[in-house]
Amino acid sequence: MINEELRDAILKLNIENSAMEHITKIGEGAWHNVYKIERKHGGDLVLRIRKKNSYGQLQEYHEIDLITEYESSKVYYHQANRSSFNICPLFFDYFYEESLVFTIESYMGNGKKLQYLSHSEGFAIGEKLGEFFKDMHEKIPEIKGFGNIIWNGKQLEGNIQQETNLIWQNDNDNYLNVLNELTTTDLKVDRKRVVDKVINIIDKRRKFPQKISLVNQDVTPENIIFNLEDTSLIDPYPRLDFDLKYAGYFVFCYKFLIPAYSNAPRYQKHTYAHNSKIMSRIADGFMKGYTKNKEKLYHRLMEEYVLWVLLETHEHYETLNKSELPPKTLQQMGDKDMIKNRLSLCLRELEKSMLFLN
Ligand SMILES: Nc1ncnc2c1ncn2[C@@H]1O[C@H](COP(=O)(O)OP(=O)(O)OP(=O)(O)O)[C@@H](O)[C@H]1O
Ligand SMILES: [Mg+2]
Repeated sequence: MINEELRDAILKLNIENSAMEHITKIGEGAWHNVYKIERKHGGDLVLRIRKKNSYGQLQEYHEIDLITEYESSKVYYHQANRSSFNICPLFFDYFYEESLVFTIESYMGNGKKLQYLSHSEGFAIGEKLGEFFKDMHEKIPEIKGFGNIIWNGKQLEGNIQQETNLIWQNDNDNYLNVLNELTTTDLKVDRKRVVDKVINIIDKRRKFPQKISLVNQDVTPENIIFNLEDTSLIDPYPRLDFDLKYAGYFVFCYKFLIPAYSNAPRYQKHTYAHNSKIMSRIADGFMKGYTKNKEKLYHRLMEEYVLWVLLETHEHYETLNKSELPPKTLQQMGDKDMIKNRLSLCLRELEKSMLFLN
């Protein structure tokens, strides 16, 4: 069935009428309704029409934010396609006006659901993703600066423009500040072990400055099309940040974060908790692909994992202490009971992750 927004988008796209019969809705994320357009020539396309309501709230139209988001995806895809990995859409474009916003990109297949992947398939896909991310991280980003990416009216740039060494020291200091805040709370955790370990990790970490790379902050399974032959990565949320830190983030997401968030309203429908074993295999494969079995690199990657658990613990603690939670937080993290339970999970994981580093 063709609805009004779809008809308007098709008109703007200027696709011939016969194609109209071959449009199917294939997905819906928090921000877009997603349609597949089958074409006789030139390959199938995906049309993502921006929703007016997200997270239960009417979204205001901010041109700069839209340009920032879509130009960032474009740059990420472009950089990805400069490597031999055939992993991101080759074509990507977007359109915006107050009444209608959409993107149009290459269709990347539908892939397998996590629960239908065998453990060896999961591992192999993870390995390929690890190799891809390593390659991505090694490329010099087209965008200058560090941090969140913003559109300055002419081009994209990182919102922090400082000397790299200073950024690196601040990054390390941040973990110590977080650690300090957590140790003054009454949280039940093996305090001495955590403090000693984190201090030790940061002392070493300072001596191995990481490289500022174009990293992806949204590697959830909804944004990866799992397919042994050609796994694809879509809907990136890029930022400029340190390479190994974000390799650690991928592992953290698949080993801990995503299963731990599966009861939050935003993620409930995906039942990630049931797929924690296969996600863990994907993470194992990722580590192999990223580190190529180099033992020291593997160890440093695991240390980044611990640091992510530390940050997550801190975020949960802080959120729990807010008087009222905004709708977006309630959707993404759940209510205070859920946050409290997940905080306990974080603390247990923090202690556990210390053990496998010894
Ligand atoms: N290029 C593509 N090729 C194939 N399938 C796609 C493509 N883009 C999106 N999809 C499908 O549509 C679903 C939702 O798309 P997408 O993640 O872009 O939506 P979103 O609203 O931006 O998501 P989010 O909630 O993560 O912000 C995906 O999980 C995927 O199944
Ligand atoms: Mg998505």
